[in-house]
Amino acid sequence: MNCIQTWPEPIVRVQSLSDSGITAIPERYIKRLSERPSPSPLDSPASDDINIPVIDLSNLLSDDSSLRKETMSLISGACREWGFFQVVNHGVSHELMRRTREVWREFFHLPVEEKQRYANSPATYEGYGSRLGVEKGMKLDWSDYFFLHLLPNSMRNQNKWPKLPPECRELVAQYGEELVKLCGKLMKVFSTNLGLEQDYLQNSFGGEEIGACLRVNFYPKCPQPDLALGLSPHSDPGGMTLLLPDDNVSGLQVRRGDNWVTVKPIPNAFIVNIGDQIQVLSNATYKSVEHRVIVNSAKERVSLAFFYNPNGNIPIEPAKMLVTEEKPPLYKAMTFNEYRLFIRTRGPCGKSQVESLKSPH
Ligand code: OGA
Ligand code: NI
Repeated sequence: MNCIQTWPEPIVRVQSLSDSGITAIPERYIKRLSERPSPSPLDSPASDDINIPVIDLSNLLSDDSSLRKETMSLISGACREWGFFQVVNHGVSHELMRRTREVWREFFHLPVEEKQRYANSPATYEGYGSRLGVEKGMKLDWSDYFFLHLLPNSMRNQNKWPKLPPECRELVAQYGEELVKLCGKLMKVFSTNLGLEQDYLQNSFGGEEIGACLRVNFYPKCPQPDLALGLSPHSDPGGMTLLLPDDNVSGLQVRRGDNWVTVKPIPNAFIVNIGDQIQVLSNATYKSVEHRVIVNSAKERVSLAFFYNPNGNIPIEPAKMLVTEEKPPLYKAMTFNEYRLFIRTRGPCGKSQVESLKSPH
């Protein structure tokens, strides 16, 4: 594999920049005019009422079969029309969610020397990082992150996870276990809704050998939030993502046509979104939707993105059942290990990555 081993430029921690008290951000973080967030969300009052669908997952277990059906169809609509939805009553302990997020907030507030022990490289991205992509001179996003592998077990190395705060490793392990279960349930729902056998997507991802990673995003306060982005527009390269946002500041925006809709997080909910691999498997019945993160000058923000992915060595291609005369296979087969080299090299690039898989029909 053509793995790049080192960053092209010295790494600057965005948190250190923010803490230094600068009032103007360095040029590297200033986006081109067309990419900047609109000056204030208040300039589009109509969009204030729009939110991504919110779905009560406990209804899938209801005795009332019409309520079960209705919930399946709400999920189906959300996958087709938004690529994003929030789930409540999802079965994951709220206490575990809160503690895991707060332990990570503490991690980012540890002294910089402690965090530097985990400084990452573009070879695996695992550890403490401050950029995505290795192109020299590229514009950077206003965020730091910590990335780690949970599954398959062969990729899991707890020594690369933070040793401090002392509860961090145990909480991450528990959190990962619970989220793998929740994703397993959603995979069945998606398969059934697509008209596939209920284990189809899970089996295509490698059954028990699926991949899972966690990226904890830390968005420091930004003195010029109108010029920067916390995370540039991208679709998630993997299967599906469960995002646990900060409970006291929003920032995630989802593309809806030519607009960006700011997600209003519901307390204790997860934000679910479809990744590129499910777009490919579903032959574009479901689409991975572009999203980005805006920052602000008043509050830092922490989010946990849990990525549920196919095993890296299995070719992923459109399900035969979803390929017809009218709808030929839209994508070529590719393993996720090959696929993720794109984003690791070029950084967040909207949807250009999955577009590049289009087969010549
Ligand atoms: C991501 C992501 C959104 C957020 O990590 O891929 O889109 O709100 N995060 O942090
Ligand atoms: Ni994302």
